[in-house]
Parts: sequence; C-alpha cells; structure tokens
Amino acid sequence: MTSQEIRQQFLDFFKSKEHLIVPSAPIVLKDDPTLMFSNSGMTQFKDYFLGYKEPKASRIADTQKCLRVSGKHNDLDDVGRDTYHHTMFEMLGNWSFGDYFKKEAISWAWELLTEVYGIPKENLYVTIFEGDEKENLERDNEAYNYWKEFISEDRIINGNKKDNFWEMGASGPCGPCSEIHVDLRSAEEKAKISGLELVNNDHPQVVEIWNLVFMQFNRKADGSLENLPAKHIDTGMGFERLCMALQHKESNYDTDVFTPLIAKVEELSGKKYTGILTDEKDIAIRVVVDHIRAVSFAIADGQLPSNGGAGYVIRRILRRAISYAYRFLDQKEPFLYQLVAVLQEQMGKFFPELEKQGTLVTEVIKSEEESFLRTIETGLIRVEKLIQQTISEGKKVLPTEEVFELYDTYGFPDDLTRIIAEEKGLTIDEAGFEQALNQQKQRSKADSAQKVYDWVTLEEKPENFVGYDKTESETYITRYRKVENKDGEFYQIVLSESPFYPEGGGQIGDKGVLENAAESFEVLETKKENGLIISLINGLPKDAGAVFYAKVNDSERRNSQANHSVTHLLHEALREVLGTHVEQKGSFVGPDYLRFDFSHFNKMTDEELKLVEDKVNAKIKDSIALQEFRSIPIQEALDRGAMALFGEKYGDNVRMIQFGTSMELCGGTHVKNTSEIGHFKLVSESSAAAGIRRIEAISADKADEYFKNLEKQITELSQLLKSKDVVRSIEKLIEENATLKSEVEAFKKEKAKGEIGDWKNAYEQKGDKLLLVKKTSLDAASVKDIVFQLKKEIPTSVTVILSDADGKPMITVGVSDDLASSYQAGTIVKDLAKEIQGGGGGNPGFATAGGKNLDGLENAYQKALNL
Ligand code: ALA
Repeated sequence: MTSQEIRQQFLDFFKSKEHLIVPSAPIVLKDDPTLMFSNSGMTQFKDYFLGYKEPKASRIADTQKCLRVSGKHNDLDDVGRDTYHHTMFEMLGNWSFGDYFKKEAISWAWELLTEVYGIPKENLYVTIFEGDEKENLERDNEAYNYWKEFISEDRIINGNKKDNFWEMGASGPCGPCSEIHVDLRSAEEKAKISGLELVNNDHPQVVEIWNLVFMQFNRKADGSLENLPAKHIDTGMGFERLCMALQHKESNYDTDVFTPLIAKVEELSGKKYTGILTDEKDIAIRVVVDHIRAVSFAIADGQLPSNGGAGYVIRRILRRAISYAYRFLDQKEPFLYQLVAVLQEQMGKFFPELEKQGTLVTEVIKSEEESFLRTIETGLIRVEKLIQQTISEGKKVLPTEEVFELYDTYGFPDDLTRIIAEEKGLTIDEAGFEQALNQQKQRSKADSAQKVYDWVTLEEKPENFVGYDKTESETYITRYRKVENKDGEFYQIVLSESPFYPEGGGQIGDKGVLENAAESFEVLETKKENGLIISLINGLPKDAGAVFYAKVNDSERRNSQANHSVTHLLHEALREVLGTHVEQKGSFVGPDYLRFDFSHFNKMTDEELKLVEDKVNAKIKDSIALQEFRSIPIQEALDRGAMALFGEKYGDNVRMIQFGTSMELCGGTHVKNTSEIGHFKLVSESSAAAGIRRIEAISADKADEYFKNLEKQITELSQLLKSKDVVRSIEKLIEENATLKSEVEAFKKEKAKGEIGDWKNAYEQKGDKLLLVKKTSLDAASVKDIVFQLKKEIPTSVTVILSDADGKPMITVGVSDDLASSYQAGTIVKDLAKEIQGGGGGNPGFATAGGKNLDGLENAYQKALNL
C-alpha cells in the first residue's frame, strides 16, 4: 500500500463514522502567543476544547502537518540519529467534541488497525494510565475494560504520568491517554525477548503508533487541574510510522514517504544510502530528507527563514541540514533546493500549498544555502586563525570566548569548530562553551520572561468585539489575570464589549483608555489568544466589576486603518502592474507606516513604482465606498474573486473587504471610503528575501506631514534664494558655480606659470644629474602640467613634487627622457609613497601617488632629498 493510499484510507474510515474531514491547518501558528507551530493535530482545535468557540462539527478527522522543534515537544536533536523521529511529520487524527468518548475511540482504532489495515493482532500492545497519587488521579479502568474486549489482558500495560497523561503545553487541555504500540520485529527476535519488555523502551521496531487522548481536564497556570465543561477525544497517529508498519519496513526512511527524496540525494551527491544508524553519511542523508520537508512546508505556509521567532527556528533547521550536507556529503555548493521538486511531486497533490508555492520555496532555500555556505567559508578562515594563534601560544585548547562568538555572532556551527580543532590536535573547552550557551539562554529568557497568573472570572457575559462599528463602548470586565514581566506588574483583561482591535492580519492592536468616574487605566496593547480579545492595562481597578468606558486611541486607529485599506489597494495595483504572481508574503500595518512583502523576482523599476503609486492614488481620489461582508461562506467570497493568503487559517464563514475591484479576506479595520486615506506615498522598495520584495509606504496623517515638510523646505529654500522659482534659481546657481570654477582654474594656472620660473631655478646638482624636490599646495592637475613641462625643458633631471592640496597628500615624480634607462618614476614614487601610507604608479617618465597620512609628507620630503 502506498503512503498516499494509507492516508486516504484513514480519512475514508472516519468519514464512514460520520466525521467531517478538514484540511490540515498551517504548520506555523498565528495569533497564539503560547505556541509557535502546530505540534499536534489538536492544536487547531484548542479553542473548541477550552469552550471559547463552537466546533463546526462534533466529529472531525484530518491529517495535520506538525513540527516538534521547540517548546515542550522537541525532537530536533534525535532526528537523523534514529529511524522514527522527525521534525515535520503528519499526524492522522480523529476528534470528538463532547460527542463519543473512550468506548468508540478504542473500538474504532482497533477496527481500523486490524481490519482495514490488517495489522496482525499479535503485533499490537496497548498502554493505559496507571493513575497518579500526587495529582489525585485514579487508574483508567474504564479504558482498560474497553480494551479487554479486543486484546488479551497481558498485552494491556500500565503507564505512568509521563507516558500516559497527555498535555499540550505547560497549561491547557489535557487528560489520560492510551497508546497503541506495534511490534515489527521478526518471529526470531520476538522469541528471544517479549515485546512487552520493549514497549516505551526506545526500540526502533517496537514503536508507538497511535495515541488516544481522553481530554477531560484543563491544566491551570498554577499547576492544578480543573474539569473541562465537556469530555472530548483527541487522537494522533504518526503517519510515517504507520507507513513503516504497513509497508513492512524497518525504518520510516525506508518507506515511500522518504525513498524518492533519498534517491535524489544519492543522485546529486553520488553517496549511497546504506541505512546504518551510526554511519555519518547515512545520518546526514536522514537529516537532509527530514529537514527539507519541515522547511519547505513552513515556507509554503508563509514562514520565511529569519532572525527571530518562528523564522529563526526554520533557519536553524535549514542550517542544520546544510551543515550536515557540507560535512558528510561534501556539498560545498547549494544543493538542498533541488529536493523541493521531488517533494512537490510526491506531496503536492494532497497539500496544494506546496504545489503552488514551489518556485518560491526553491528560491528561498537556495538563497539561504548560498548565504550560510558563505558564513561557513568565512567562519573556516576565522577558525584557522584561532587555531594558529592557539598553537603559537603553545596552548591546546581554543579560547572559549572566541569559540562562542563564532557560534553566536557569526552563526558558525560549533561542531565544525570542534572537528577542525580536533584535526589539529586541539580541543574546545566543552564546559566553558556549555556555560556560555546557558548564560546566553538565561539572558534571552530573562528578557522575555513573564509570569502569567490564572484568569479570575467576574461575569459570565458574552465577550464580543464591537470595534468594526465603534471606537467607544460601555463595557464590563468579564475576566482578568495578573502578568509580571521585567517592566513590572500589569493586568490582562477581557471585556464584554471590546472596541479594541486585537493585533492580527498585520495590523497592530489598538491602544486607548478604560475609565469610569472613579478610575482610569491606560490600555497598552490588545492581542488575541485562543479566540479571546485581551487588552493589557497598567493596574487593577479597585472595583473591577463596575461599568467602564472603553475608548480606542482615535488618531492611531484612524491612521492604522487608512494604512490597512491602502495596503489592499497596493496589493491590487502591484498585481496589475507586475502580474498575478504577486502575492502577499507579509504585512505590517501601524499608524505611522505600512510594510508590505510580496513575491516578485526583480527589483521594481522607477516607472513601475510610479505607476503603482499613481494607481493607488487614483483609487483614493475615486472615493470608493467600503463594502464589508462580515460573514459570508468562504466559497462565495472566493467565487466573487476575493484573495486568500497561503498560511492563513480561514473558517467556513469569512469576512470580506471590498473597495471596488479589490477584494480580500481580512479581519482588519478599514476606512469607510478610500477618500479618507488622503494620499499614498511610497517610501522605499527593497529586497526582503530571495524572491520577495518589500515596500514601505505612508498614508493619511503621515503623508500630510510628509508633504507639509516638503513645502516647508521649499519655502525655506525660496526665502534663502529670494525667489519663488527655486528650480530656476538653483539652475542659475549651478551655472554661476561652473563659471566661477573655471575662473579659479584659470587663475591657478596663471599662478602655476609664475611658479615654474621659480622652480626651474631651484634644481640642485647631484653628481651628473639635477634634482628638484618641492612642496606645494597647487592642485593635482596644475602639478601634473608643471612636472611635464619641467621634465621636457630640464634635461638629465628628476623632479619630485609633494603637494597637500585639499588636505590630501600627493607625490608626483617626473624623470626627463634622457634618464629613462637609469631612473623609473614609478619605482621612486612607490618608495616615497610608503611614507604617506599610499600607493600609486605610472610610467617610467611620470608617476603619481596619493596617500592617507598627510603628516608623512615631511618624511617623504627628506627621503626625496637623499635620492
Ligand atoms: N494530541 C495527542 C498527541 O499529540 C493525540 O499525541
């Protein structure tokens, strides 16, 4: 059975059990400050479990792209070293939201594995939660009793809290779980040692394939458990491991999920994959084919590699792959990007984002490879220097500070430093390096650390956003919680009616005030977390239950929404001018400016920029009214022509923002009419990453300010120039300046002529030759003229002129033609130029040199006298 068929059978099975099949959510999470990536199938359903949102069906199934490379679930260091851990993997899952519970979850799992997939029953083991005294939790006898119906009791194993109590993160929904393990060993191996002993023991052929979680608790920030409002099922089956089991392979990497990628690596590198766990080349191949998937899917979902946050995690994964390929597969040139096409071919049908974004993914990976390989090359030079220095000091250990700097500041992989050092018989101070690493981690932790307390619920009122319609509202605080960070103590609040727009879709969150007759608080920021709109205020009201007035900072909101609406017009204009390959790749909308990243492969020309700016301003002048569709079926919006973005998670119903022909799915706040934008002004166009251009622009008040400033400058200029026509006046000034310049030139020449006479008389007899060494402040052109004249008129002479015009030292040497065979002007000038830290040259008869050290002219003068 191919992996594609295995995936399809899973979905078909749960469809037959009345599950709604949904697409995978993007791998990179937005609007969730507690998590960067989808790390399990349930991530996209968090809001349902917490009761913040109504599920769109009570039974759902899907395959979810997951990434476990940061936070609570982090497998990165294992990847490549074993046969069954991955950075990105697919998790097949089925969910019940307050619908079925343990009985059905267990019996369907059994039915699918043994009857549909045909896994022999004797190859399966299950685990159940044994209970935990400290948490006051009992053994999961219920699950045990259901399992008993299918599997002999000696194959049901008790598991502890670590293995059999599933939690998504430090807080959030959780519950006991029951895992299904499969024993893929040969009969011979099984006879030697029972599978019972190998479950949960890191045996590569006795692995967990499916985890059934019985969600019934919420872990609070203080560590305690509370019951969820309803009981749910959350299951997750490792797709790649399931393929290993069904395709009778010993390693995930031997399944058709990976073999096409491995074949391509073999072809490109000329190295053969032998599947050996400890072989460095094989580890490298596993790392490469694993990491390329994680990185490609993340980029296709809109997450570009960068220097911070999720982008940095992606960059690190990619760099790990590049570094392995460099060291063990001898790939010194970009090569990973060539695997994207294979991945596309293999997975593009099921994951259309990969199909559509293939070119961009390839370009981005290639350019990351180029830049990291350059880092490696320059790093190698630094390491070499460090090694020489250490050896010359007679030491055996590289200095820790420099080794850490190489890693931290220059991004040079520390294991490369280690290997190169070892080749030269040196080592690095491992403990010192570890300490530096920890200190650095502590520092960045301290910077971002914040302690978040549990919610205190005041009112069971609906919590609504009213900010599309008004910027002021009478409201209650429904819940609040304390937050402590390095700046002090703050409170996060949720309002019954919030006019504050929560940061999202690129637009920054609203600020403002929350007040009543008794108290007033500043609203410092507003964000969204798991469907809640959370505003941060600078204190806790004495009477938190009182009525408050929430007021958005009007001018900031007005300017932000002008920038947001104009971003839509910009997007449309770019597609009109450059083509429909232009797609939004990132956006920032604040009150002061907007930034828009989009896919396009060339620098925009001045004409294109002008055209785009004009088109946007024409739309502003047309006073196009906003048409807001607050909630329409997504298909209807797409049929009308709305733009949807890759990597965004859309619901069945969406909000569509339309200004004439511009239609986008968008949750942001907007002007009611494009005329409110006032004017649009492009500020810059630059490269954001390979294949991605970045535009920065202003509108509304900032554009007004910009033009007012321009006007002010022009008024000042016209006052200075005493003219209304500043352009003509400046032209006149330039003309006058040119005339004056040529007059000065002529005057200098006159002066030089006068000097020639003096200089002619100043030659000194040196043996049978004449030498003139002279200091002057004449400009270079005049000196050149004079020297040419002198060397012609004074036979058997060497002329050396040292000038300091405009504060720059310069040496000019002339040798008369009859001395050409015995003296070289170029050689003389080079020697003298050392004194002024300069260089230069010329021909045997004439040479000049400029320099950096004006004070050195005196030495050069003395040296010349002794010629
Ligand atoms: N959420 C569960 C897991 O990831 C199914 O294992």
